[in-house]
Amino acid sequence: METEKKTQTAAEQMTDRDLSEQIKKVTKESHVRAENTQLMLSFQKGQVTLAQYKLLLCSLHDIYQALEEALDRNSNHPGVAPIYFPAELARLESIEKDLEYFYGQDWREKIVVPAATKRYCHRLRQIGKENPEFLVAHAYTRYLGDLSGGQILGRIAQKSMGLKSNDGLSFFAFPGVSSPNLFKQLYRSRMNSVELTEEQRNGVLEEAVRSFEFNIQVFEDLQKMLSVSENQLQSSSTHSKPEKSLQLP
Ligand code: HEM
Repeated sequence: METEKKTQTAAEQMTDRDLSEQIKKVTKESHVRAENTQLMLSFQKGQVTLAQYKLLLCSLHDIYQALEEALDRNSNHPGVAPIYFPAELARLESIEKDLEYFYGQDWREKIVVPAATKRYCHRLRQIGKENPEFLVAHAYTRYLGDLSGGQILGRIAQKSMGLKSNDGLSFFAFPGVSSPNLFKQLYRSRMNSVELTEEQRNGVLEEAVRSFEFNIQVFEDLQKMLSVSENQLQSSSTHSKPEKSLQLP
């Protein structure tokens, strides 16, 4: 057959039964919704503000702290071990560096996270304890996203915010990954090597959709926080009376 004659690439060798293919398929619609949140549109239009980015970093801090704690704690679990790449992927330290850059040394006292972020982190801790085999869904959503669209967003963010160097943008940089595309292929093949019962597989796919949903809710909540503070600032300037505005650090 024609296809058999072709030298197949790793991507072409994947089948419909592969977790990496199934997860991409079931989250396709959610990905479109995530891309079209106001926050992600601001990024894509090159209009992301420092206020948006700083607030996003605060939420990413709590999310990666919960995700990476759960992955570390389950690093020997058969559903986690194949996709456990802390040296290449871990984001927490980079985010902490960025937070220190923007907020100063006492950043821990200054960070604010909306309710949606707390719900997302709660879920991550819960599955870390009760269903570690679902962690692959969350790791996929965040890390493969960071290695895909995230790479473009980092460059856009630098321009939009007029940052001269990469200071404050460590989150987007993966020094341990020389080729994001090759690494994504490796990651997909590791995902496909995880042995799952039919029930567990369905659970993972459901969890991936849920993971996108958590991210969408975080972005929407962040945007709401920003709109409230902007409206309050506006109304205090139009009425020229010293109203107390919502203080975002
Ligand atoms: C993949 C763009 C937001 C998660 C991708 C790819 C692009 C992209 C171009 C590569 C597609 C491919 O290789 O076939 C964007 C843009 C975004 C955005 C422009 C917003 C401005 C997000 C968000 C998440 C996410 C918010 C999750 C929280 C993913 C994942 C993949 C991916 C998991 C890997 C898909 C796979 O190969 O299985 N994105 N993305 N993306 N993105 Fe996004």
